[in-house]
Amino acid sequence: MKKKVIVANRLEQEALDELKKHADVSCFYNIISTENEEFVKKLKEAEGIIGLGLNVDKQLLDLAPNLKIVSNVSVGYNNLDVEELTKRNIMATNTPDILTDTVADTMFGLLLATARRIPELDQYVKERKWKGDLTAEFYGVDVHHKTLGIIGMGRIGQAIAHRAHHGFHMDILYHSRTKKQEVEEKYNATYKNLENLLAESDYVLLITPLTKETRGMIGAREFSLMKETAIFINGSRGQTIVEKDLISALRSNEIAAAGLDVFEVEPIQPDNPLLDMPNVVTLPHIGSSTYETELAMSKLACKNLLAGLNGNKPPTLINEKVWKNK
Ligand code: DGY
Repeated sequence: MKKKVIVANRLEQEALDELKKHADVSCFYNIISTENEEFVKKLKEAEGIIGLGLNVDKQLLDLAPNLKIVSNVSVGYNNLDVEELTKRNIMATNTPDILTDTVADTMFGLLLATARRIPELDQYVKERKWKGDLTAEFYGVDVHHKTLGIIGMGRIGQAIAHRAHHGFHMDILYHSRTKKQEVEEKYNATYKNLENLLAESDYVLLITPLTKETRGMIGAREFSLMKETAIFINGSRGQTIVEKDLISALRSNEIAAAGLDVFEVEPIQPDNPLLDMPNVVTLPHIGSSTYETELAMSKLACKNLLAGLNGNKPPTLINEKVWKNK
């Protein structure tokens, strides 16, 4: 008999079709927690969950007594209570590596778009307002040869540093849990404590995972340390910053602009003041969303899921301890 699996929110069609050959699949969309009765019913029998953005916490796990594996279609796994999963010997997996360059491309695009005001000027042209030579009020600021401060020097941080150093001749400062000798040599990067990085960077780019330690790490104090001309880019999670403090910092011109792929509440609420700020460029959390990369992530997530369900070690297991305990 095929094993029962829940697909939550995201799995590319091609991967879903393939998964259906191997598992008894129930799909749920726009699901965050245990709000849906039919979903709760399916949870009771499910041996696997695959998808994105479902809060797998104690409350959900209490309703899923047969669960063996949760396979995230994302590199970030702040939606999973890994400690609780591990306690219950349930495997957790994510999809690292394959999205690294795609997310780095998005982050660089966002940085360029914010610095050179591309969406704002696109709008200006399409609204037929371009009548003559542009005056200084429309100018952007340079990216090349400026100083980029990267907070979070994991795989994606390094791919951003690569682009910045080789493509844009930027000076790289970084802050992360550990100093990375190899990164320093490859990209001529300099490790800084957070305060110095904030004070010295023209661009501050946040790409750290959301953890207990990083939640709310950039707030009023941190924005006040940045240059008045600083451009802030967030590609990590909305909760790594204090969003209301970012709004205040932008309103009071403590920083110049922001490029945001992530928000405290997603989708962003219509009354969020960030939506009315011309110096803020927004994206709907699409760091990894190219067709090729999303499909590759979906396929890897399926591979993880089926390995776990069939008693094999998933290729990108997060909680190794569960495997060791087998
Ligand atoms: C990731 O893979 O973590 C992306 O941010 C999508 O959630």
